[in-house]
Amino acid sequence: MKITFIGGGVMGEAMLSAILEKGLSRPQAISVSDIDETRLKYLEQKYGVAAISNNRLAADKSDVVVLAIKPQNLVQVMAELSGHLKPTQLVLSIIAGARIKTLCLGLNHNSVVRAMPNTPAQIGEGISMWTGATEVTEQQKGRAGSILGTMGKEIYVDDEKYIDMATAVSGSGPAYIFLFVESLIDAAVAIGLPRDMAKELVLQTVLGSEHFIQKSGKPLAELRRMVTSPGGTTEAALHKLAEKGFSSLILQAVIAAYNRAQELGS
Ligand SMILES: NC(=O)c1ccc[n+]([C@@H]2O[C@H](COP(=O)([O-])OP(=O)(O)OC[C@H]3O[C@@H](n4cnc5c(N)ncnc54)[C@H](OP(=O)(O)O)[C@@H]3O)[C@@H](O)[C@H]2O)c1
Repeated sequence: MKITFIGGGVMGEAMLSAILEKGLSRPQAISVSDIDETRLKYLEQKYGVAAISNNRLAADKSDVVVLAIKPQNLVQVMAELSGHLKPTQLVLSIIAGARIKTLCLGLNHNSVVRAMPNTPAQIGEGISMWTGATEVTEQQKGRAGSILGTMGKEIYVDDEKYIDMATAVSGSGPAYIFLFVESLIDAAVAIGLPRDMAKELVLQTVLGSEHFIQKSGKPLAELRRMVTSPGGTTEAALHKLAEKGFSSLILQAVIAAYNRAQELGS
């Protein structure tokens, strides 16, 4: 499969590296275009892919053109590619907030898939939600699914409204988890644990809890009750979290991200 990346930044590199690692394509079949010449040289040397500093030339003859640029650069890139894509070429956009309708109109092209990956994609543990324009063929859907699948799990949806929701949950989600982990480590230090010990305790607790959720198959509320003895330490902590509106705060944060995702796409 011939793949072009327009934008070889953090996410572009994560996708490129996952594709090569999983053997979905070969370096000779991949081209990358980026306005940052240093970035292009780095990607060319590290992965052996073709570095082309012209978006139109880079996309020529590719089966899949991945748009991995920032939203503010989209208008310019669409203008460059408009009228130069063949119907058989699939455009796979990971740009937050860029709607399929906007992409199809701006590119003058109907084979467009929109996906929302997240940063754990960089280690093959990501999750992407994606959808496509009605004109996207089954073969093109297969290609999009296999590209996104190299970075972790992928979920296809047939309604674009879910992409903004995924943006607020799994797209921004790693930052919520990182903040929680940071806060728990800081709290552990505040009550007297040395920082390295606090970090080890917290990271293994997060990892172990996640594996426990997956392996036990029990509902989350039941798992929570199992560690909460009446009058015990966990109950004291959970009571404080409830009193301060922990769940409501998470809801408000997710709604704020969701509203912002919708604004970006309007
Ligand atoms: N990071 C995430 O967790 C995440 C998750 C899901 C989706 N996304 C989406 O993925 C996209 C890329 O994010 P990122 O974090 O990889 O951004 P990034 O690191 O800034 O990468 C974008 C790259 O595109 C280059 N570029 C800018 N204008 C260009 C143009 N006209 N033609 C070709 N290349 C151009 C940039 O160069 P300069 O730096 O010189 O401008 C940069 O190297 C964004 O739209 C974001 O919404 C990101």
